[in-house]
Amino acid sequence: MSHLPAGVLREAIVDVGAIADNVRHLRRLTESEVIAVVKADGYGHGAARSAAAALAGGATRIGVSDISEAIALRRAGIDAPIVAWLHAPGADFAEAAALGIELGISHLDQLQKAAAAASGDRPVAVHLKLETGLSRNGIAPDDYRIVFAEAARLERIGRVRVVALFSHLSNASREDDLAALRAFEEGVAAAASLGLAPPLRHIAATHAAIDLPESRLGCVRIGIGLYGLSPFADRSSADLGLRPAMTLRGAVAAVRRVPAGKGVSYGYDYRTGRETTLALVPLGYADGVPRQASGRGPVVIGGRRFTVAGRIAMDQFVVDVGDAAVAVGDEAVIFGDPTLGVPSATEWADAAGTINYEIVTRVGPRVPRRQVSE
Ligand SMILES: Cc1ncc(COP(=O)(O)O)c(C=O)c1O
Repeated sequence: MSHLPAGVLREAIVDVGAIADNVRHLRRLTESEVIAVVKADGYGHGAARSAAAALAGGATRIGVSDISEAIALRRAGIDAPIVAWLHAPGADFAEAAALGIELGISHLDQLQKAAAAASGDRPVAVHLKLETGLSRNGIAPDDYRIVFAEAARLERIGRVRVVALFSHLSNASREDDLAALRAFEEGVAAAASLGLAPPLRHIAATHAAIDLPESRLGCVRIGIGLYGLSPFADRSSADLGLRPAMTLRGAVAAVRRVPAGKGVSYGYDYRTGRETTLALVPLGYADGVPRQASGRGPVVIGGRRFTVAGRIAMDQFVVDVGDAAVAVGDEAVIFGDPTLGVPSATEWADAAGTINYEIVTRVGPRVPRRQVSE
C-alpha cells in the first residue's frame, strides 16, 4: 500500500509525462498541429507545467481563455505562441501585445483595439473567430465582410497579422458539427475573397479531433485529451489511448469502530447497518470533491473499493470500510488512472451528474499539486 509523504493530508499528483504522451498520441492520430488548451489553470493540473509538458510532447501553440492567463504563462517562461480568446468588454490589449500574445477576435471593435495596441513595426497576431452555430462569441456571418475587409486593410498597413480563422463546435451531433464545418468553410471563402489567407484554420477540440477527421484542418485545439480524459460518454481514456494525468488522494485522518445504527456525517443520511469501521478521508467540496456525489462517490483504500457514506462536507467525508484493516495514514484515492485499479474522474462525474472536465478543474487551491513524470 502506498502512503502519502509525511505530513501531507491531501494532494493531487500531476504526471507531466502523461500530458506529453497524450499530445504525442493525438498528434500522430490527427496528423495535425496541436494547440494545447491550458485555460483554468490547465484544467486544474497547473497551467505552466501543463503547457511545458504539452510543448515537450510536440504541441506548437498554447490556448487559453483570458489574457491574464496568457500573461501569467509568459511570465512563467512559456515562450511559444499563446492565443487568448475571451476578453473583457473594453479590454486593453497593450500588455498582451507587448508580450507577443495572440488575440482571438470576435468583433470589429476588438480588431481595431488589437491594431491600436501594435507598437513600432510589430503587428499584433490575431485569430479571427467565426460564429458557426454555438451562439457564443465569434464574428456573426452578417459581419464577415466588414470585419474581414478591415482585417485585410490592417494587415496591409502592418498593424495586425492574421494567423488563423477559427471556430468551436457544439458536439450536438455529427450532422450539427458537419453543418458548422460547412458554415466555417463559407467564412474561410469569404475571408479569401477579401484578401485574407491565414496559415492556420482550427475548429476541432478533443471530441471532433478524434471523431470527426474532416474537422482537423491540420490544426486542432486539444484540452481534455491533454489531461488524458475522454470527452465521450461511451469510451474510456484507455479506449482512446490516453493516460489520465491527475491522481487525487488523501491520507486517512481517523478510523473508528462503531456499532450498528450509528449516524454518519451531517444529517445522518447514512446509518451503519452493523458493527463496522469508519474511515475519515480529508477531502471535501472545498477540495473539489462534489457534494452532489454524497453517498455515491467511489474511493479506493488499501486497494479495496468503497463508496462515500453519507454527506460530503467541506473538508472531509467518511467511508464505511466494514471489517477491512484500515489505519490512520493509509492512502485513499479519490480518482486517478482506472487501469491501475482506482476510480476515474469520469466515475465521479457520473456520481455527481456532471462531466469529468468539471471534476478535475474544480480541484481546489488548498490541494497541493505534486508534479511527477512517469
Ligand atoms: C474555444 C475552445 N477551444 C478548445 C477547447 C478545448 O476543448 P476540449 O477540452 O474539449 O478539448 C475549449 C474548451 O472548452 C474551448 O472553449
